[in-house]
Amino acid sequence: MTKNNDISIVILAAGKGSRMKSNKAKVLHNLCGKPMLYHVIKSSQEISDDINVVVAHQKDAVITEMNKYFNNINFVIQDADNFPGTGGAMKNVSPKNNTVLILNGDMPLITSDSIKAFLNIESEIIMSIFDLTNPDGYGRVIIENGEVQKIVEQKDATKDELSVSTVNAGVYAFSKKTLQKYIPLLDNNNAQKEYYLTDVISMAKNDNLKIVPLLVDENNFKGVNSKKDLSEAEVIMQDRIKDKWMQNGVIMQLPSTIYIEESVTFEGECLIENNVRITGNTIIKNSHIKSSSVVEDSNIIDSDIGPMAHIRPSSIIKDTHIGNFVEVKKGILNGVKAGHLSYLGDCEIDNGTNVGAGTITCNYDGIKKYKTTIGKNVFIGSDTQLVAPVTIEDDVMIAAGTTITSGTVRKGSLAISRTKLRTIKDFYYKFFGKQNG
Ligand code: UD1
Ligand code: MG
Repeated sequence: MTKNNDISIVILAAGKGSRMKSNKAKVLHNLCGKPMLYHVIKSSQEISDDINVVVAHQKDAVITEMNKYFNNINFVIQDADNFPGTGGAMKNVSPKNNTVLILNGDMPLITSDSIKAFLNIESEIIMSIFDLTNPDGYGRVIIENGEVQKIVEQKDATKDELSVSTVNAGVYAFSKKTLQKYIPLLDNNNAQKEYYLTDVISMAKNDNLKIVPLLVDENNFKGVNSKKDLSEAEVIMQDRIKDKWMQNGVIMQLPSTIYIEESVTFEGECLIENNVRITGNTIIKNSHIKSSSVVEDSNIIDSDIGPMAHIRPSSIIKDTHIGNFVEVKKGILNGVKAGHLSYLGDCEIDNGTNVGAGTITCNYDGIKKYKTTIGKNVFIGSDTQLVAPVTIEDDVMIAAGTTITSGTVRKGSLAISRTKLRTIKDFYYKFFGKQNG
């Protein structure tokens, strides 16, 4: 959608979020791999260039985190000690444009399409509402004679008001002059001793201003106050992510068991089996990820992975077969077969190489990490340890059970380290005695 130069957006992100029961600021809790506030800003940016984010609680952490993703956000500091609450949060905001859209930082499911509706209505005040069978936690919207009278917060509500199922979704569009008039008039005469933005509604109503209620969908406007809300919102966002990729041609088996972060991308023909987790900036291209595998921040191209494999960050896996119980970390594998339980960390393995079961790159000496480089057409026997730094040139054969301690194994060689096998006749019977003949 095209950006609207008449709209400023304010995102309230300064609250303590006590119901989250966490040391971390509420808006920094992750949803599908990114903080809640990231999702709200991302959708807002599709609508306006004037994005104002109000911060106070853990403001340094919130600003630092958001600066990782965005470079054109206007951070506004709330004087939360003297003016706590969503109304207090608006006191220091000076939006550039005449229409001000206010969003809560705890509504990560918001999409630009879902807020577009606010921009198509001409009014001094538009507020969002939805009807819920369980309105717990939300401000109740009191409507009389078809007109919005006020919003009553749960903690201030009478028993009758608590039974109202129409709630304030928490997004508003105000004209700048309405805000400038009413924000300074707010008081904190309520159960929480906070300055409520929602009180602007009853003040405006008393002045006979028209308040337009806009019915919205909970799937886009759900507020996240607790860790339970967070998990419910994440399910909704997961469904969106997976639906998008399935529409784009990815096959998913039992998609409700699959977890895919928003930064993951797929190309070509991909098949994702049940219980797979894919995170970070992973790219999967023409590949098959088998059941219960985890892929983090890696590229998987023309390959099959798992079941039960763990591909850790910075791996690039191409034309390769990775079997069960194989862990790869920062591994660049091109045309490789590693079919069974192995650890391949800080390594480069080239075309035609077969990695036997139980192979371990010993990349860490307790202080530093070292690299293993393995050439083309190498045959690594089972139970091989490669104590890095080590280089295996092309066409090398490593005998099962070998420990390669350092240096370079030259092209075409056999590497073998074994103690000679001894068999001692009847030792078993001498040791345990002869049982039942
Ligand atoms: C708020 C609304 C409620 C609505 C609900 C929708 C008020 C008083 N209540 O309640 O009517 O149904 O959202 O989700 O507005 N914040 C600040 N500074 C503060 C306090 C909060 O910036 O001093 C921010 C928070 O970081 C949060 C947002 O404002 O992102 C909403 O605050 P929260 O405490 O979650 O309000 P709710 O109780 O959910
Ligand atoms: Mg909330």
